[in-house]
Amino acid sequence: MSRIYEALQKAEAERKQDPRPFEAIDPEASAAVADYEPPTGYAQAEFASALTDHTAAPLPIGNTAFDAFTRHEWNPSIDKLPSLLDRGPSVEQFRSLRSRLYELRDVRPIKSILISSGLPQEGKSFVSANLAISLARHRNSKVLLIDGDMRRYTVHEMIGTSPSPGLADYLSGSATIEEIVQRAELDSTQQGAAAANKAGLSNLAFIPGGNGGDRAADLSGSPRFGELLKAMSPIFDWIIVDSSPVLPVSDAVNLARSCDGVMLVARGSVTKYPVAQRAASELRASNVLGFVLNAVHEAPQVGSYYGYNAGKE
Ligand SMILES: Nc1ncnc2c1ncn2[C@@H]1O[C@H](COP(=O)(O)OP(=O)(O)OP(=O)(O)O)[C@@H](O)[C@H]1O
Ligand SMILES: [Mg+2]
Repeated sequence: MSRIYEALQKAEAERKQDPRPFEAIDPEASAAVADYEPPTGYAQAEFASALTDHTAAPLPIGNTAFDAFTRHEWNPSIDKLPSLLDRGPSVEQFRSLRSRLYELRDVRPIKSILISSGLPQEGKSFVSANLAISLARHRNSKVLLIDGDMRRYTVHEMIGTSPSPGLADYLSGSATIEEIVQRAELDSTQQGAAAANKAGLSNLAFIPGGNGGDRAADLSGSPRFGELLKAMSPIFDWIIVDSSPVLPVSDAVNLARSCDGVMLVARGSVTKYPVAQRAASELRASNVLGFVLNAVHEAPQVGSYYGYNAGKE
């Protein structure tokens, strides 16, 4: 039996012994994500096999325990990552979105979530990174954040680390999992890093985009992405995948096939309704969980959207 297989089995056994109870449902948070009817045919069994079928992922990962991932110096941008702050509306609103996800996960298994939108600049990367940190701050959850936008990868800039090697390198076969997964080595001399919430970053692992360039569409269709998620599932409580917009390119639709759910972002006062509709339609073969309405000045109190405005304290 290989060390990889043993480590995966151990991680899974530990998870089973210590099932983290789902967070209590927050009635305020029910507005966080629109109530999409899940597409029929979402098979619970498929998710279960993704967690247990380790034989399908004989990846050259070495020791798969979270602690064994290589530490990189991170210099996170507090401006771009307001969920690192101790308090404030952004912290509260990402907490509400997190509650909504726990609520959804109570109904059916969801671990890997792809974040996308119809068009560029609607806030996919902002929501992905801040949601991942919010999840990592809660109950000591281990979270993997993947920059799945191999064309315009930006999440590494928010975290303050290098963009490669990354997902594109792994999918093209030129890098191993252990080469692309980063953990935080925070520079304690920096103000921002010192302020950065310890639980938020110490429980987070990150895979940058790597340089996919023109190959991004082909790479996103590689079966290696599904293998990566299978190998990572036993180690993490949540896997958040940032992605490209769905209307100009097909990458996100390809990646979404391997994820348990998709969350779409619409930007307040910018995203037109038909664009949001077409984005949802492009992803109809996946499990669309709902929309996040990003960058609105007043978060709706009730209704089917989640509001967030980073600029307003
Ligand atoms: N709620 C927000 N409050 C303040 N600034 C925001 C908010 N959402 C996004 N931004 C800013 O808007 C810009 C675009 O956001 P982001 O990069 O997340 O969009 P994107 O959808 O990932 O874009 P692309 O499609 O190019 O990858 C960034 O400068 C980001 O910091
Ligand atoms: Mg982006």
